[in-house]
Amino acid sequence: MAALKLFGRLNGKPVYLIKLANGDIEAEIISFGATLRALRVKGRDGEMHDVCLGYDSAEDYAKQDGYLGATVGRHANRIGGSRFELNGQEYSLSSNEGANQLHGGIEGFSHKLWSFNCSEYAVTFSLDSPDGDEGYPGNLHAEVSFSIESAKLRIEYKAVSDADTLVNMTNHAYFNLGGHESGKVYAHELCLGAEHYTPCGEGNIPTGEILPVDGTALDLRDFTRLGDRLDDAALALTEGFDHNFVLSSSPAAVLYCPKTGIEMKCSTSLEGMQLYSAGFLSGRVGKEGAVYGKHHAVCLETQHYPDAVNKQGFPSPVLRAGQKYNEWTEYEFAIR
Ligand code: GAL
Repeated sequence: MAALKLFGRLNGKPVYLIKLANGDIEAEIISFGATLRALRVKGRDGEMHDVCLGYDSAEDYAKQDGYLGATVGRHANRIGGSRFELNGQEYSLSSNEGANQLHGGIEGFSHKLWSFNCSEYAVTFSLDSPDGDEGYPGNLHAEVSFSIESAKLRIEYKAVSDADTLVNMTNHAYFNLGGHESGKVYAHELCLGAEHYTPCGEGNIPTGEILPVDGTALDLRDFTRLGDRLDDAALALTEGFDHNFVLSSSPAAVLYCPKTGIEMKCSTSLEGMQLYSAGFLSGRVGKEGAVYGKHHAVCLETQHYPDAVNKQGFPSPVLRAGQKYNEWTEYEFAIR
């Protein structure tokens, strides 16, 4: 059975920590935000390395704005002007990044207390998001399950609503395969299976175009040392990568750390991935006193494209009443 312990309390309510372990991989997930707090995998030295950034207290998670390890919803990434039209009706969402909505609003899924059920190698979290929550229509029942098998973590997302709505859930884990405390990821190598990306304008809102990565700083189709790209002038506005890629191969991405020998393959049912190289992370005190800063991690946020509801030609993030949302992402580890 998964191990369960009290992690802390928020507004008098218990926040639990669930640990899944099988000898090859150990995942710690807390019930606030259905948040991946730690992920330990074997390195070349035979030791377990915690490759996910996180915090030591429930209070740190309640006030965090970096979404470390959190389940993000109802709608991950940005919705321009915090508005959309559905079935001829205009919906106005809460704004939490200028005029736009980011990661589901002021109190999105990342900041809610989820209920859960555990089995030996899995935990399923559930949340009821009421009609009008952060502006979204429909009573939505959402579930996120984390399960382990061999050296693989699988995250599965399910949702159903009683009215047409938007759903776009992701996990916002910050990976550092050298260990969560090991600083900049410059020596990591990344290969991302995307021929195209969705360029953005002001506020990092997509223009609606889908452009080839060929000949740009976003071409990661071959293994690329992150240190050779993150300070590229073409990525200055976003302090490194903070871009949505149009996935075109499986696995979607492979990340490798030469120091520990740990390689992580990311596969998904989703069509997009926001690659975020933590350009806006600064001086945060994380687990065991580790200080997290700029470029100390990489997020591979599998998702529908940002602002897709407002962009013709982007795959739709609309979930129709009664229809079942079911998407998954897997992170599989190996040693090279
Ligand atoms: C990313 C987003 C970044 C930043 C980050 C959280 O998904 O694209 O711009 O907001 O989340 O700090």
